[in-house]
Amino acid sequence: MDATRRTVLAAGAAGAAALATGCTDGDGDGGGGTAEHPATPEPSTQADAASPGAPATGASPSASMGRELAKRSAVPVGGGTVFKPEKVVVVQPTAGQFKAYSAVCPHQGCLVDKVADGTIDCPCHDSRFRIADGSVAKGPATRPLPPAPITVTADAVLLP
Ligand code: FES
Repeated sequence: MDATRRTVLAAGAAGAAALATGCTDGDGDGGGGTAEHPATPEPSTQADAASPGAPATGASPSASMGRELAKRSAVPVGGGTVFKPEKVVVVQPTAGQFKAYSAVCPHQGCLVDKVADGTIDCPCHDSRFRIADGSVAKGPATRPLPPAPITVTADAVLLP
């Protein structure tokens, strides 16, 4: 409630300022005039700094869709690339078709470490997962790699 109350009070102050600049509240309601004069809200100096709609300085045009993980060219056709810090593996089974999976092996939680011969491979117990759909090609894992959300632009792969 405090935040809302502060917002209301701030709006009331703006309304009062509007009143002071020429609006008259003739009905005598004494309510502060916020409803009758919904003045254009002042830009919030705190919120605007992080506003995703604001033109960002130094950011790429695709920044609003997510942050760039890699250029498309970093993901080989018929193979893929493991991004360990992000725990994501991005593959390109056929040219222009990108998919991403969690890089955390569903067997016991190691990070997969390479993509080779059409599979994503875990170094801990040698489970392998098909790049086409993340399904298990070789155990001991019994569950597939879960899909990971990505956005692919004309030249880059983005994370949300
Ligand atoms: Fe990946 Fe065991 S943790 S195969």
